[in-house]
Amino acid sequence: MIQFIARLHGIKPEEQPDYGQDVPGVAKGTAVFGLLTSGIVIAHLIGLLSTGIFVVLRTGTGWSFWETLGLTILAVLGVIALAISGFLVWSSRRGKLLMRDRVIAGLKLRGDEQVLDVGCGNGLLLIGAAEKLTTGTAVGVDIWRSDLESNNSRDTVMHNAALAGVADRVQVQDANALDLPFVDGRFDIVLTSLMLHHMNEAERQTAVRQMVRVLKPGGKLVIVDLAHLSALVTLLHACGLTAVHQVPLNLPFFKQLVATK
Ligand SMILES: C[S@@+](CC[C@H](N)C(=O)[O-])C[C@H]1O[C@@H](n2cnc3c(N)ncnc32)[C@H](O)[C@@H]1O
Repeated sequence: MIQFIARLHGIKPEEQPDYGQDVPGVAKGTAVFGLLTSGIVIAHLIGLLSTGIFVVLRTGTGWSFWETLGLTILAVLGVIALAISGFLVWSSRRGKLLMRDRVIAGLKLRGDEQVLDVGCGNGLLLIGAAEKLTTGTAVGVDIWRSDLESNNSRDTVMHNAALAGVADRVQVQDANALDLPFVDGRFDIVLTSLMLHHMNEAERQTAVRQMVRVLKPGGKLVIVDLAHLSALVTLLHACGLTAVHQVPLNLPFFKQLVATK
Protein backbone atom coordinates (compact mmCIF):
# COMPACT_ATOMS: atom_id res chain seq x y z
CA MET A 1 0.00 0.00 0.00
CA ILE A 2 2.80 2.41 0.98
CA GLN A 3 4.62 1.55 -2.26
CA PHE A 4 1.40 2.13 -4.25
CA ILE A 5 0.86 5.58 -2.67
CA ALA A 6 4.53 6.45 -3.25
CA ARG A 7 4.19 5.52 -6.95
CA LEU A 8 1.05 7.69 -7.25
CA HIS A 9 3.21 10.61 -6.12
CA GLY A 10 5.94 9.74 -8.62
CA ILE A 11 8.33 8.50 -5.90
CA LYS A 12 10.18 5.32 -6.80
CA PRO A 13 10.11 3.34 -3.54
CA GLU A 14 13.24 1.53 -2.43
CA GLU A 15 13.12 -2.10 -3.56
CA GLN A 16 12.39 -4.49 -0.70
CA PRO A 17 12.91 -8.26 -0.56
CA ASP A 18 9.88 -10.07 -1.98
CA TYR A 19 9.23 -13.39 -0.27
CA GLY A 20 6.49 -14.41 -2.70
CA GLN A 21 2.95 -15.72 -2.44
CA ASP A 22 2.25 -19.09 -0.80
CA VAL A 23 0.19 -21.51 -2.92
CA PRO A 24 -0.41 -18.84 -5.60
CA GLY A 25 -2.89 -21.00 -7.55
CA VAL A 26 -5.09 -21.47 -4.47
CA ALA A 27 -4.94 -17.75 -3.64
CA LYS A 28 -5.97 -16.81 -7.19
CA GLY A 29 -8.57 -19.58 -7.55
CA THR A 30 -10.36 -18.72 -4.30
CA ALA A 31 -10.30 -14.99 -5.17
CA VAL A 32 -11.85 -15.59 -8.61
CA PHE A 33 -14.45 -18.01 -7.21
CA GLY A 34 -15.32 -15.62 -4.35
CA LEU A 35 -15.66 -12.60 -6.66
CA LEU A 36 -17.76 -14.55 -9.16
CA THR A 37 -20.16 -15.99 -6.58
CA SER A 38 -20.48 -12.65 -4.74
CA GLY A 39 -21.10 -10.96 -8.09
CA ILE A 40 -23.88 -13.40 -8.95
CA VAL A 41 -25.52 -13.06 -5.52
CA ILE A 42 -25.30 -9.25 -5.55
CA ALA A 43 -26.61 -9.06 -9.13
CA HIS A 44 -29.47 -11.32 -8.11
CA LEU A 45 -30.25 -9.27 -5.00
CA ILE A 46 -30.44 -6.02 -6.95
CA GLY A 47 -32.58 -7.66 -9.59
CA LEU A 48 -30.14 -7.89 -12.48
CA LEU A 49 -30.28 -11.66 -12.62
CA SER A 50 -33.73 -12.15 -11.11
CA THR A 51 -35.04 -13.83 -14.22
CA GLY A 52 -31.66 -15.06 -15.26
CA ILE A 53 -29.42 -17.67 -13.72
CA PHE A 54 -31.85 -18.89 -11.05
CA VAL A 55 -34.97 -18.79 -13.20
CA VAL A 56 -34.89 -22.58 -13.48
CA LEU A 57 -35.45 -22.73 -9.73
CA ARG A 58 -38.26 -20.18 -9.77
CA THR A 59 -41.70 -21.64 -9.28
CA GLY A 60 -43.86 -18.55 -8.75
CA THR A 61 -43.42 -14.82 -8.84
CA GLY A 62 -41.40 -14.63 -5.61
CA TRP A 63 -38.23 -16.48 -4.63
CA SER A 64 -38.76 -20.21 -4.19
CA PHE A 65 -37.25 -22.10 -1.26
CA TRP A 66 -34.66 -23.64 -3.59
CA GLU A 67 -33.75 -20.32 -5.13
CA THR A 68 -33.20 -18.79 -1.68
CA LEU A 69 -31.22 -21.85 -0.56
CA GLY A 70 -29.10 -21.75 -3.72
CA LEU A 71 -28.29 -18.09 -3.24
CA THR A 72 -27.53 -18.53 0.46
CA ILE A 73 -25.14 -21.43 -0.22
CA LEU A 74 -23.46 -19.43 -2.99
CA ALA A 75 -23.11 -16.40 -0.69
CA VAL A 76 -21.60 -18.48 2.13
CA LEU A 77 -19.17 -20.23 -0.24
CA GLY A 78 -18.22 -16.87 -1.74
CA VAL A 79 -17.47 -15.34 1.66
CA ILE A 80 -15.41 -18.39 2.70
CA ALA A 81 -13.45 -18.30 -0.58
CA LEU A 82 -12.74 -14.56 -0.25
CA ALA A 83 -11.68 -15.03 3.39
CA ILE A 84 -9.27 -17.85 2.43
CA SER A 85 -7.83 -15.81 -0.42
CA GLY A 86 -7.49 -12.68 1.75
CA PHE A 87 -5.77 -14.63 4.52
CA LEU A 88 -3.35 -16.30 2.08
CA VAL A 89 -2.35 -12.93 0.61
CA TRP A 90 -2.09 -11.19 3.99
CA SER A 91 -0.16 -14.01 5.64
CA SER A 92 2.30 -14.27 2.71
CA ARG A 93 2.89 -10.53 2.41
CA ARG A 94 2.70 -9.39 6.05
CA GLY A 95 1.82 -12.08 8.59
CA LYS A 96 4.73 -14.34 7.72
CA LEU A 97 7.19 -11.47 8.18
CA LEU A 98 5.90 -10.92 11.71
CA MET A 99 6.08 -14.68 12.30
CA ARG A 100 9.62 -14.78 10.92
CA ASP A 101 10.77 -12.03 13.32
CA ARG A 102 9.29 -13.97 16.26
CA VAL A 103 10.91 -17.28 15.22
CA ILE A 104 14.34 -15.74 14.63
CA ALA A 105 14.26 -13.73 17.88
CA GLY A 106 13.49 -16.99 19.72
CA LEU A 107 16.73 -18.54 18.41
CA LYS A 108 18.88 -16.00 20.29
CA LEU A 109 21.68 -16.46 17.76
CA ARG A 110 25.27 -15.59 18.82
CA GLY A 111 26.29 -14.84 15.24
CA ASP A 112 28.74 -17.66 14.50
CA GLU A 113 26.20 -20.43 13.81
CA GLN A 114 25.72 -22.58 10.74
CA VAL A 115 22.02 -22.41 9.89
CA LEU A 116 20.07 -24.50 7.36
CA ASP A 117 16.62 -23.55 5.98
CA VAL A 118 14.97 -26.55 4.30
CA GLY A 119 12.40 -25.58 1.64
CA CYS A 120 13.61 -21.99 1.91
CA GLY A 121 11.30 -20.64 -0.84
CA ASN A 122 12.32 -17.05 -1.47
CA GLY A 123 14.46 -16.96 1.66
CA LEU A 124 12.11 -15.73 4.37
CA LEU A 125 13.63 -17.53 7.39
CA LEU A 126 17.01 -17.92 5.71
CA ILE A 127 17.55 -14.17 5.32
CA GLY A 128 15.98 -13.45 8.73
CA ALA A 129 18.60 -15.76 10.29
CA ALA A 130 21.43 -14.34 8.16
CA GLU A 131 20.62 -10.85 9.45
CA LYS A 132 21.61 -12.06 12.95
CA LEU A 133 24.85 -13.75 11.82
CA THR A 134 28.34 -12.27 11.81
CA THR A 135 30.81 -15.06 11.07
CA GLY A 136 28.18 -17.76 10.56
CA THR A 137 26.46 -18.85 7.35
CA ALA A 138 22.82 -19.44 6.45
CA VAL A 139 22.30 -22.15 3.82
CA GLY A 140 19.00 -22.55 1.98
CA VAL A 141 17.86 -25.58 -0.01
CA ASP A 142 14.78 -26.06 -2.14
CA ILE A 143 13.41 -27.90 -5.16
CA TRP A 144 11.62 -24.70 -6.31
CA ARG A 145 8.03 -25.91 -6.72
CA SER A 146 6.28 -22.88 -8.21
CA ASP A 147 2.84 -24.21 -7.20
CA LEU A 148 3.86 -23.81 -3.54
CA GLU A 149 5.61 -20.41 -3.66
CA SER A 150 5.58 -17.80 -6.42
CA ASN A 151 8.87 -16.90 -8.13
CA ASN A 152 10.96 -19.18 -5.93
CA SER A 153 14.43 -19.73 -7.34
CA ARG A 154 18.06 -19.49 -6.36
CA ASP A 155 18.26 -16.12 -8.16
CA THR A 156 15.30 -14.70 -6.21
CA VAL A 157 16.83 -15.81 -2.89
CA MET A 158 20.19 -14.22 -3.72
CA HIS A 159 18.48 -11.04 -4.98
CA ASN A 160 16.50 -10.82 -1.72
CA ALA A 161 19.68 -11.49 0.28
CA ALA A 162 21.45 -8.68 -1.58
CA LEU A 163 18.54 -6.29 -0.90
CA ALA A 164 18.71 -7.22 2.79
CA GLY A 165 22.49 -6.68 2.76
CA VAL A 166 23.33 -10.26 3.80
CA ALA A 167 24.40 -11.89 0.51
CA ASP A 168 27.87 -12.59 1.94
CA ARG A 169 26.33 -14.76 4.67
CA VAL A 170 23.83 -16.65 2.50
CA GLN A 171 24.32 -19.73 0.33
CA VAL A 172 21.60 -21.44 -1.65
CA GLN A 173 21.50 -24.87 -3.27
CA ASP A 174 19.14 -27.03 -5.31
CA ALA A 175 18.48 -29.96 -2.98
CA ASN A 176 15.64 -32.21 -1.92
CA ALA A 177 14.66 -32.37 1.75
CA LEU A 178 14.37 -36.15 1.32
CA ASP A 179 18.11 -36.47 0.67
CA LEU A 180 20.02 -33.53 2.11
CA PRO A 181 23.52 -33.24 0.57
CA PHE A 182 25.30 -32.49 3.87
CA VAL A 183 27.43 -34.54 6.24
CA ASP A 184 25.99 -35.60 9.60
CA GLY A 185 26.07 -32.92 12.30
CA ARG A 186 26.92 -30.03 9.94
CA PHE A 187 24.45 -27.41 11.31
CA ASP A 188 23.79 -25.70 14.65
CA ILE A 189 20.23 -24.78 13.64
CA VAL A 190 17.86 -26.36 11.12
CA LEU A 191 14.72 -24.43 10.16
CA THR A 192 11.79 -25.35 7.98
CA SER A 193 8.55 -23.48 7.39
CA LEU A 194 5.39 -24.49 5.55
CA MET A 195 7.03 -27.32 3.61
CA LEU A 196 6.20 -30.46 5.59
CA HIS A 197 2.40 -30.29 5.21
CA HIS A 198 2.83 -30.54 1.44
CA MET A 199 4.41 -34.01 1.85
CA ASN A 200 2.80 -37.37 2.49
CA GLU A 201 3.43 -39.15 5.80
CA ALA A 202 6.37 -41.25 4.55
CA GLU A 203 8.07 -38.23 2.94
CA ARG A 204 7.52 -36.14 6.07
CA GLN A 205 9.22 -38.79 8.20
CA THR A 206 12.18 -39.03 5.80
CA ALA A 207 12.55 -35.23 5.62
CA VAL A 208 12.50 -34.82 9.41
CA ARG A 209 15.01 -37.68 9.86
CA GLN A 210 17.29 -35.95 7.32
CA MET A 211 17.03 -32.66 9.20
CA VAL A 212 17.88 -34.40 12.49
CA ARG A 213 20.82 -36.19 10.81
CA VAL A 214 22.47 -32.94 9.64
CA LEU A 215 21.95 -31.27 13.04
CA LYS A 216 24.89 -31.13 15.50
CA PRO A 217 24.43 -32.70 18.93
CA GLY A 218 22.98 -29.87 21.03
CA GLY A 219 21.65 -28.16 17.88
CA LYS A 220 18.08 -26.87 17.49
CA LEU A 221 15.42 -27.91 15.00
CA VAL A 222 12.60 -25.43 14.40
CA ILE A 223 9.50 -26.46 12.45
CA VAL A 224 6.81 -23.94 11.50
CA ASP A 225 3.74 -25.49 9.92
CA LEU A 226 -0.02 -25.66 9.82
CA ALA A 227 -0.78 -29.34 10.33
CA HIS A 228 0.39 -32.75 11.62
CA LEU A 229 1.82 -31.20 14.81
CA SER A 230 1.14 -34.09 17.18
CA ALA A 231 2.53 -36.65 14.69
CA LEU A 232 5.62 -34.45 14.34
CA VAL A 233 6.09 -34.30 18.13
CA THR A 234 5.96 -38.12 18.27
CA LEU A 235 8.41 -38.34 15.37
CA LEU A 236 10.85 -35.88 16.95
CA HIS A 237 10.86 -37.92 20.17
CA ALA A 238 11.38 -41.10 18.11
CA CYS A 239 14.38 -39.40 16.45
CA GLY A 240 15.90 -38.95 19.92
CA LEU A 241 15.33 -35.19 20.18
CA THR A 242 14.75 -33.79 23.65
CA ALA A 243 12.97 -30.73 24.94
CA VAL A 244 10.36 -30.80 22.19
CA HIS A 245 8.20 -27.72 22.76
CA GLN A 246 5.35 -26.06 20.94
CA VAL A 247 6.20 -22.35 21.07
CA PRO A 248 3.34 -19.88 20.41
CA LEU A 249 3.41 -17.77 17.26
CA ASN A 250 1.86 -14.40 16.40
CA LEU A 251 -0.01 -15.72 13.33
CA PRO A 252 -3.32 -17.61 13.37
CA PHE A 253 -3.19 -21.28 12.26
CA PHE A 254 0.64 -21.32 12.25
CA LYS A 255 2.34 -23.56 14.83
CA GLN A 256 5.98 -23.74 15.88
CA LEU A 257 7.86 -26.75 17.25
CA VAL A 258 11.33 -26.29 18.75
CA ALA A 259 13.45 -29.33 19.65
CA THR A 260 17.04 -29.94 20.74
CA LYS A 261 19.23 -32.82 19.54
C1 LIG B 1 4.90 -22.79 0.94
S1 LIG B 1 6.57 -22.70 0.44
C2 LIG B 1 7.33 -22.00 1.91
C3 LIG B 1 8.64 -21.32 1.58
C4 LIG B 1 9.35 -20.69 2.77
N1 LIG B 1 9.82 -21.70 3.70
C5 LIG B 1 8.46 -19.70 3.44
O1 LIG B 1 7.98 -19.97 4.56
O2 LIG B 1 8.22 -18.62 2.86
C6 LIG B 1 7.15 -24.38 0.48
C7 LIG B 1 8.54 -24.53 -0.15
O3 LIG B 1 8.98 -25.87 0.07
C8 LIG B 1 9.65 -26.30 -1.10
N2 LIG B 1 9.65 -27.77 -1.12
C9 LIG B 1 8.60 -28.60 -1.26
N3 LIG B 1 9.01 -29.88 -1.23
C10 LIG B 1 10.36 -29.86 -1.07
C11 LIG B 1 11.36 -30.85 -0.97
N4 LIG B 1 11.06 -32.14 -1.04
N5 LIG B 1 12.64 -30.46 -0.79
C12 LIG B 1 12.96 -29.15 -0.72
N6 LIG B 1 12.06 -28.15 -0.82
C13 LIG B 1 10.77 -28.50 -0.99
C14 LIG B 1 8.84 -25.67 -2.23
O4 LIG B 1 9.54 -25.65 -3.44
C15 LIG B 1 8.54 -24.30 -1.66
O5 LIG B 1 9.53 -23.35 -1.99
